[in-house]
Amino acid sequence: MKKSLLGTAAVTSAPMVLSGSYQQRLLLDSRSYDARAFAANDQINLALIGTGIQGIFDTTTALRVPGVKLVATCDLYTGRLDRAKELWGNDISVTRDYREILNRKDVDAVIIATPDHWHKRISIEALKAGKAVYCEKPMVQNFDEGHELIDAHKQSGQVMQVGSQGMSSLGNEKAKQLYEDGAIGELVMLDMYNDRYSAEGAWNYPIPPDASPDTVDFDTFLGSAPRVPFELKRFFRWRNYKDYGTGVAGDLFVHAFSTLNFVISSQGPNRAQATGGLRYWEDGRDVPDVSITLYDYPEAATHAAFNAAFRVNFIAGNGGGGSIRLVGTEGELQVGSQSVKLIRSKLDMKPTGYALIAHTEENQKKIVAEYDRKYADERSKNLNTGETHWEAPMDYKGGHYDHFENFFKGIRGEKKIIEDPTFGLRAAGAALLANESYYKGAPVKWDPEAMRLI
Ligand SMILES: NC(=O)c1ccc[n+]([C@@H]2O[C@H](COP(=O)([O-])OP(=O)(O)OC[C@H]3O[C@@H](n4cnc5c(N)ncnc54)[C@H](O)[C@@H]3O)[C@@H](O)[C@H]2O)c1
Repeated sequence: MKKSLLGTAAVTSAPMVLSGSYQQRLLLDSRSYDARAFAANDQINLALIGTGIQGIFDTTTALRVPGVKLVATCDLYTGRLDRAKELWGNDISVTRDYREILNRKDVDAVIIATPDHWHKRISIEALKAGKAVYCEKPMVQNFDEGHELIDAHKQSGQVMQVGSQGMSSLGNEKAKQLYEDGAIGELVMLDMYNDRYSAEGAWNYPIPPDASPDTVDFDTFLGSAPRVPFELKRFFRWRNYKDYGTGVAGDLFVHAFSTLNFVISSQGPNRAQATGGLRYWEDGRDVPDVSITLYDYPEAATHAAFNAAFRVNFIAGNGGGGSIRLVGTEGELQVGSQSVKLIRSKLDMKPTGYALIAHTEENQKKIVAEYDRKYADERSKNLNTGETHWEAPMDYKGGHYDHFENFFKGIRGEKKIIEDPTFGLRAAGAALLANESYYKGAPVKWDPEAMRLI
């Protein structure tokens, strides 16, 4: 039987509430309780702040995890609050003001799926209000915000998970195991690309017909960003503006960094150099639609020094798609959340006819004989070359589910959070280096351990 958290938490003399009304919960809540003292079956009451595309995906996934109930949602556009009721019923309460959610005593955890420029502020306020926080990636819009959030998280003692769900997947776990087993030898290069061959892929989202100053709270949306006149494009396609989003880097690179940092246990790069431009989507946006960034990784306990290339375009390219490819001295790993491809290869030192053609026949025989003698051992070994594909089982619930399960287990004290704010800043920070370099027009340096620009 599911119980209210408040009934079993560290409330010494309070009566048990098994399925109480809000008032009953308030009664209990006026006493002190330890928000982290969840028992395995305690119900976690969840609220969503930012009821847009990802907020809906997040909440739908979170509600698949047993013992979780949605009690409230928040958004600045009334159409999204209507949508919340369509999806989750009329019993959930809805508001345009996230502070009402944070003030509710019956909310144990919040999902923050607002545009990036609101992440830090709402996360800190939620932590201070005693809520467990699941904040979407990128954790922050700029570097300094990351440290503020890490400090606030430490002071609060609350649980916080950042939302790069791919790193929780079985695919990423498999890749980590293969990497640690030495399947690709020593990592020398990483290649990440994403070809987003669609209007949606280029963040050209629909603007609903009923959007107007009556239904959209544009002033609040702006938050700490510069004041501009009411504009629906900015509200519904906020990613296209650097005042609210983080461009390709914060939207897409950050997932690859989370995966990479998890798979190879890295703290991140120490140098980035970005280029790119706005080549096609001249629709008012001020962020590039082609972005290429080169990163240098210093030697660390878990890897040698290596280089990484991240490239994204919003125009075309191979019909769409993307991948993360780790290239090593003995093979490569293509890492997905549901699948991993390992291609093992060993360097063949022996020259072919291509190089031999320029030598006399007598010398060709001697060269080949010498190679055969020198590399006899190597070539007689089972080189274990070829491709191995690993696929997640058909009934696998997916990385998104696993990420939320980890969050809720973290709240219940059953598991360590996989993507805490320090991890979140290492991923976001590495990604944001691309923006820093692009707008500066110069390479930038980063201390991955201290998470500071140099
Ligand atoms: N983890 C992933 O794979 C993934 C995928 C997509 C988006 N995201 C992240 O999720 C976040 C939201 O992206 P989206 O695509 O859902 O955007 P969206 O525009 O569809 O939704 C954002 C919603 O937040 C609301 N909002 C804005 N400011 C608010 C405020 N102060 N209080 C309450 N609501 C507010 C907006 O009205 C909007 O409905 C972004 O940070 C994005 O990077 C993550």
